[in-house]
Amino acid sequence: MLKPIKLANKNFLSSLDTSREELVNILEIAKAFKNKDLNIKLKDNVLGLIFDKSSTRTRVSFQVAMSRLGGNTVDLIPNTSQIGRGEPIRDTARVLSRYCDVLAIRTYKQSDLEEYAKWSSKPVINALTDLEHPCQALADYMTIKEELLDFKNVVLTFIGDGNNVANSLILCGALLGVEVRIACPKGYEPNPLVIKKAYQIYKNKDLLRITNDPINAVKGANVLYTDVWSSMGEENQKEEKDKDFIGFTIDKNLVRNADKDAIILHCLPAYRAKEITDEVFESKRSVIFDQAENRMHAQQALLSCLLS
Ligand code: CP
Ligand code: NVA
Repeated sequence: MLKPIKLANKNFLSSLDTSREELVNILEIAKAFKNKDLNIKLKDNVLGLIFDKSSTRTRVSFQVAMSRLGGNTVDLIPNTSQIGRGEPIRDTARVLSRYCDVLAIRTYKQSDLEEYAKWSSKPVINALTDLEHPCQALADYMTIKEELLDFKNVVLTFIGDGNNVANSLILCGALLGVEVRIACPKGYEPNPLVIKKAYQIYKNKDLLRITNDPINAVKGANVLYTDVWSSMGEENQKEEKDKDFIGFTIDKNLVRNADKDAIILHCLPAYRAKEITDEVFESKRSVIFDQAENRMHAQQALLSCLLS
């Protein structure tokens, strides 16, 4: 019988905080939740949410996931709590982990997230940092499996900024043995440490390619994925990045160069006519809203594996 495997690591700060076996289990549990084949209750458990950056999907999907598990959430708005007034992370973490059973944190620096985890007596989840977005990657690979049934022979091409979303796609892809290609403008390559770690995991080094040529990168790809060009915290670089990313839009032409049945993913929010055209976004190939729905199932599974 399918059961959540308790994660060996206390926290989920990175896509590499699960083993391959644990990751596959999370994806199976998520699918079972989606199909209403599994009933796990974490009654009276409380998830604390701290979001230093905006969020629609991550915040709401965590709230609903926790409520489906029979637990509750507390959303700590930094501006109206002492966090915004500069109370040290180590104090906030020690206090909140006396009240809550798990914390999900969205912030800028990965080192701040790690500081929360260090001082929290309860598990800490990365709800997005500048370095990684591992909860997003869970939903992404869940969606890929749902659409393509198997990870074998899947080619995932990410076109855009080699940022948090791309970093987690690479690490999760390495654990699952999925071929990942990243096409980005020069200077926007993924984090070198992430690339290094991924190569250490991949048995076949050809399964990860970083390139500046989007047309070439989508040849034979089964999944085309993009994200915003300017991430949260980069608002002042928008003008420069809009210029640097010319030629990196997922449009009809790029899609034509991919596998004829390729699916389109986007973590959202999306800026039409920038990283993706409206035509492709709204096309039959787009499973972007299934992907968004899967955030909730994947996080419900993650919470089950961290807490049960
Ligand atoms: N994809 C994602 O994390 O969306 P939000 O910023 O709305 O949470
Ligand atoms: N790279 C984007 C992802 C948003 C979900 C950001 O960090 O803003």
